[in-house]
Formats: sequence, C-alpha cells, structure tokens
Amino acid sequence: MDNLTVKVVNIKKHYQVGNHMIKALDGISLEIKKHEFVSIIGKSGCGKSTLLHMIGGLDIPTSGTVFVDNMNLAQMNHKQLALFRRRKVGFVFQQYNLIPDLNVYDNITFPLELDGVNIDHEFIRKLLISLHMEDKKELYPSMLSGGERQRVAIARALAIKPAIILADEPTGNLDTSTGHEVIGLLKGIAKQYNQTLIIITHNLDIAQMADRIIQIEDGMIVKDDDLYVNE
Ligand SMILES: Nc1ncnc2c1ncn2[C@@H]1O[C@H](COP(=O)(O)OP(=O)(O)O)[C@@H](O)[C@H]1O
Ligand SMILES: [Mg+2]
Repeated sequence: MDNLTVKVVNIKKHYQVGNHMIKALDGISLEIKKHEFVSIIGKSGCGKSTLLHMIGGLDIPTSGTVFVDNMNLAQMNHKQLALFRRRKVGFVFQQYNLIPDLNVYDNITFPLELDGVNIDHEFIRKLLISLHMEDKKELYPSMLSGGERQRVAIARALAIKPAIILADEPTGNLDTSTGHEVIGLLKGIAKQYNQTLIIITHNLDIAQMADRIIQIEDGMIVKDDDLYVNE
C-alpha cells in the first residue's frame, strides 16, 4: 500500500446496549491515497465519528482491519497505539481544546514538549505564517476569535508532522465564511506536505472542497466518488 495512507477492510463496530445491538459501523471498506483530501458526510448518528476514531486508533473495531501508513492497528499493543496517535495522527475537533493559561505558541508546542521530541521551531513558524497567525503567537486563547482558535488547534495538530489529519466537524462552531477560510488554509497545508486529510462535515460547501466525498448511512458507505473514477 505504498501510495495509500488508509486501508480499511470490512470494519464493523457493534455496541450491545441492553438487549439491543447498535451497529455503528456495519461493514465499511475504503482506501485513501497519501495526497487525498476526503470529506465524510451523512446524517447525525450514521457512524462518521466512529469511523474516524477507528482510523485514528482511538477505538478498535469489533471486526475487520484498519491499516494506516502500512501499519495494522489491530496488531499494536496499547503503548504502540498511543505512540501511533501521538506521532502519526493530527486530530482536529469541533471543540478547540486549547489550554487557557498558555499562549498560542505554547499551546502548539505543548504536546511536543509532553512527548519529549525535538521541536522544529522553523517549521512551526512556517505553519503560523500559512495559517495567518504569526503576529498572534503570543496571545492567549481568550483573546482570539473562533476561527483563530481553530487555526491554533490546527497548527497544534500539524506541528507533529502527521501522516494523516483527521478532523471531526472542525467548522461546527464557526460561521460559514470563517469555516471556509479555515478549511481552505488546512487544505493548502495538507497538499503542501503531501498529507492525507479526512474531514467530517455537515456543511456541503465544505465537503465540496475535498477531492472526494464519502457518504455514510446506517454504518455503511452509500456513495463514494472514488467508485466512479474508473468508469
Ligand atoms: N459507546 C457507545 N455505545 C453505544 N452506542 C454508541 C457508542 N458510541 C456511538 N454509539 C452509537 O453509534 C452510532 C454512530 O455514532 P457516531 O459515529 O457518533 O455518529 P455520527 O458521528 O455520524 O453522528 C450512533 O447511533 C451512536 O448512538
Ligand atoms: Mg460525530
């Protein structure tokens, strides 16, 4: 899977709740290439976040296999999985989860400090410039707009130089034009560094910024642009 970042083979995630079985994912297979920007759409509760969690190693499927960057996540122990999440995956959520007592720059470098890895300050400077945040690096989260806060969260996710960026409704708290701008910047950076970008969104305008749209219903893929590429 040299040109692939993600290969998902028939994954299912079933939850037993009382005597009821919830099939959050019910047989999903897909392949995503290194440079691809994919958006995932579908109604609330259809399984989008669950799928993203499986790809990011935040949760383990009931059955099926997930490969990311040539690694079979099912074969990793807890420690390896934790390292995988810290070093390979950049997570971006609807909530920015910034630390109020740290300024922008320290919020971005904090996970790297925790991880004890060398900080590439020149790279972070470039990220801040790309995200139009260079002149705000000493401000605290409370001084920033929603769009700016999400750009800090994006910089923090990108600072680890992840192979893959997973964003779960990243524009959920932003107005339409700000959301568009933020995702435009994220898309540009992911392309520049040949990173895979997967974004869950409710917003069709945002979804259409992707190279490919995957639609999920009841834990299954019901539409995938990729299927039509070779027709
Ligand atoms: N820990 C859990 N226990 C039971 N059901 C769950 C759990 N996590 C998710 N679900 C259910 O799985 C389905 C898919 O959830 P989710 O992936 O969060 O949907 P989406 O992100 O598309 O809104 C939903 O019906 C949800 O209630
Ligand atoms: Mg969700």
